Amino acid sequence: MLMTKNILILPGDGVGQEVTASAIEVLDFIIKENKLDFLTKSMSVGGQAYEEFGTPIPEEVLNEAKKADAVLFGAVGGPKWDDLEWDKRPENALLTIRKELNLFANLRPAFLFNELSNASPLKEEIIKNLDILIVRELTGGIYFGEPRGVIIDQNPNYAFNTMVYNEDEIRRIAKVAFEAAQKRNGKLCSVEKANVLEVSKFWRAVVSEMSSDYPDVQLTHQLADNAAMQLVLNPNQFDVIVASNLFGDILSDIAATLTGSIGMLPSASLDSTFKGMYEPCHGSAPDIAGQNIANPLAMISSLSMALRYSLNQENISDKIDRAIKEFIQSGYRTKDIAVDDNYLPTSEVAEKIIEIIKNG
Ligand code: IPM
Ligand code: MG
Repeated sequence: MLMTKNILILPGDGVGQEVTASAIEVLDFIIKENKLDFLTKSMSVGGQAYEEFGTPIPEEVLNEAKKADAVLFGAVGGPKWDDLEWDKRPENALLTIRKELNLFANLRPAFLFNELSNASPLKEEIIKNLDILIVRELTGGIYFGEPRGVIIDQNPNYAFNTMVYNEDEIRRIAKVAFEAAQKRNGKLCSVEKANVLEVSKFWRAVVSEMSSDYPDVQLTHQLADNAAMQLVLNPNQFDVIVASNLFGDILSDIAATLTGSIGMLPSASLDSTFKGMYEPCHGSAPDIAGQNIANPLAMISSLSMALRYSLNQENISDKIDRAIKEFIQSGYRTKDIAVDDNYLPTSEVAEKIIEIIKNG
């Protein structure tokens, strides 16, 4: 029996609008080409929703997101909304969707197209063939821990957050990471600060205990500061990295930067039934928004991840991934990865990708 798949598209702010338009072009093409039973719907989120409805995440958007099989999320935020209080800020939309949809598993691949190694800040011999996956816990830890707050009637005033994980939260994210390692190169590095934090020591113990269930995966542990250094010194030692919400946030920015352009990298945030939200690793980039120069490949690649993980279309996902590779190998560039003035504007990238898929 065929079941309609619902895809909610939330372009958001800044370049989010532009890169999502490219992904929609590719999506429309593959729906038509493969006669897919997909229903798509676009809605406002982030700063744009705040302007229209006074909240970055209207109730209706949240409800549609809960119903969707996959959410394609562009990017949110911008200087215009920086001074708003937290519940009105565009970023709140992101955290609310993650939490309300239980998207605890954040997959952030960082891979290098060797043709682009000159765009990396690292030397070619260090970065060549880079292919790592960061599995970041996304709905717990210090981002959501209680109690939290700011106290302003004391002397001195103070603020505090709580870093907390229970064993179930650790097990479910570690399971995703162990299984990802099994499908990749069989190596998993768990990152924490077990030399300082109780929660990290506990994390290490729970992950270690699980490792006997995965004899085919080689488990190692690194302290977060060392892992940050190792990512820059010798990134190819890593296959899969698993980390808490905060450490994963930091390490995934480092990993993304190694590849030369954050404009190339997709991400997936999944619940336990593999419904998910898919977004590029880059933000709304207000400095280049509206200029038609953003790189939409991360968003198109995020669409590919959605097809793979949530929409049951692995073959089509493979085709898109191959097309992106061929796009780069054929010498097409966007401004962020160009060496000269020879690059495509954002609005012409999808067309090229579609052409490559058609010829493929
Ligand atoms: C990310 C971002 C977000 C985070 C911000 C925008 C709230 O940095 O997705 O990595 O910290 O999770
Ligand atoms: Mg981040």
